[in-house]
Amino acid sequence: MKTPRRSAAWYGKLDRDGFIHRSWMKNQGFPDHAFDGRPIIGICNTWSELTPCNSGLRILAEAVKRGVWEAGGFPVEFPVTSLGETQMKPTAMLFRNLLAMDVEECIRAYGIDGVVLLGGCDKTTPGQLMGAASVDLPAIVVSSGPMLNGKWRGRDIGSGTDVWKFSEAVRAGDMTLQDFMAAESGMSRSAGVCMTMGTASTMASLVEAMGLALPTNAALPAVDARRTALAHLTGRRIVEMVEEDLKPSDILTRGAFENAILANAAVGGSTNAVVHLLAIAGRVGVDLGLAHFELGRDIPLLVNCMPSGQYLMEDFAYAGGVPAVLAQLRDQLRPARTALGGDISAYAEGAEIFNEDVIRPLSNPVKPAAGLRVLRGNLAPDGAIVKPSAATDALLEHEGPAYVFESIEAMKAQIDRDDLPVTPETVLVLKGCGPKGYPGMPEVGNMPIPAKLVKAGVRDMVRVSDARMSGTAFGTVVLHVAPEAQAGGPLALVRTGDRIRLSASRGELTLLVEDAELEARRTAWTPDPPHYTRGYAKLYVDHVLQADRGADLDFLVGKDTRPVTRESH
Ligand code: FES
Repeated sequence: MKTPRRSAAWYGKLDRDGFIHRSWMKNQGFPDHAFDGRPIIGICNTWSELTPCNSGLRILAEAVKRGVWEAGGFPVEFPVTSLGETQMKPTAMLFRNLLAMDVEECIRAYGIDGVVLLGGCDKTTPGQLMGAASVDLPAIVVSSGPMLNGKWRGRDIGSGTDVWKFSEAVRAGDMTLQDFMAAESGMSRSAGVCMTMGTASTMASLVEAMGLALPTNAALPAVDARRTALAHLTGRRIVEMVEEDLKPSDILTRGAFENAILANAAVGGSTNAVVHLLAIAGRVGVDLGLAHFELGRDIPLLVNCMPSGQYLMEDFAYAGGVPAVLAQLRDQLRPARTALGGDISAYAEGAEIFNEDVIRPLSNPVKPAAGLRVLRGNLAPDGAIVKPSAATDALLEHEGPAYVFESIEAMKAQIDRDDLPVTPETVLVLKGCGPKGYPGMPEVGNMPIPAKLVKAGVRDMVRVSDARMSGTAFGTVVLHVAPEAQAGGPLALVRTGDRIRLSASRGELTLLVEDAELEARRTAWTPDPPHYTRGYAKLYVDHVLQADRGADLDFLVGKDTRPVTRESH
């Protein structure tokens, strides 16, 4: 006998509870047949005017609804917390786990059978996936899609990446403030997420490579009619997924995560993918650790997009998008089931590259080995990462004296001082920016080059911190040092003048200070007083895991798929 649908426990009952559930929904004009036992599909929308990257999601939600109705389902849209990366303080990452909780509890509490996740801006995709994975109802993603290419003075400019470049140019005296201000309007010309291969497009690409969205979902521009059609088709597909009982746990297998790691290397994806994939894996019980990211180490960089390359997401879409990349990786892909029910290799079938400068064939990569490098050593016992494709090759093997900023405020106060005692060999160290320390692990690891060195033409230096960096940023930046300083990691013990050695080829990050001296410093060390003593931020600081565990909250790891049986009335 067929198991009754989950929604039947809300809308299928011929008693007082069923009356209440149906009757209140009918105040929106839904007819009787909407409650005839058809699949009820939640559309989990992170639209918000404070999340400009997700501003196109209302249009996509309507298209999803068309598809759901067409396939015989009943779509119901609901809002969840929205995280506007460029708008939130102290950092949107502080709230990723709050979004995940919101998504999880909404999906669980409402009488839906499956869910379409509408997200885009950096933290919205991982937050939604973490929450949906912990309930494990059939789920599929429709992403915002990238903005059209930025245009300014006749050339393409990329969100994020060119902001960092322009602001350094202003500091170096190579760009006027008027030009800097004028570039603002040309950068963001349409709805959609950052049109570089930043975190949003990285996560959308990995979602596609993991088979959690339909093919071409990642790269089609937000305003391309084909994205609206894809949303429509996704609405049709989620109804079938409910019929097939195809759940995130069927899709998010070890093979899917390994495919995401391979794809992340090939697209030159964001370092933020590491914390997000680790957190999602923790929800579905896949034993993924930092070491697994070494899988991507020898994968060539195939997508020539900023910040690791020169083009933008619009170009990537027209060149073939993720399916064309998966076709290049065909021999390496792990078997993994997708939202379409088949194997991920089907996403690559018939995919072609239409511009071989934007998507390079394996025979002509942008860089021969592009994967993130995992670092360990006495400065990062639980690991750290560096992104070679966005770094300066010569600096990936480097030893130099540390200059330490004890906090972000100290860094901002000092970085432009003409008498800052730094040289191009100096290793800049920033503390107090990890999950607990800031709190929320902000994207400040790519600290600016000291003004006096910028004026001398220096554009990159080795930088080390417990922070993250924007997926649109570049430089020889060592990130996610774990344990973080505020948790008592060795980073807390570094002093200006200590020598630090980075060897990306050997995967090492070493503080060249005697153990006895470090022990003496540890005895004298105390953590900073907490910035927050109440509310969600306190909950976060008390329970957040370190970067090598995905910075999830300890009590959110895993899932709870038990039916909800108690009624409120
Ligand atoms: Fe939203 Fe970049 S700020 S995607």
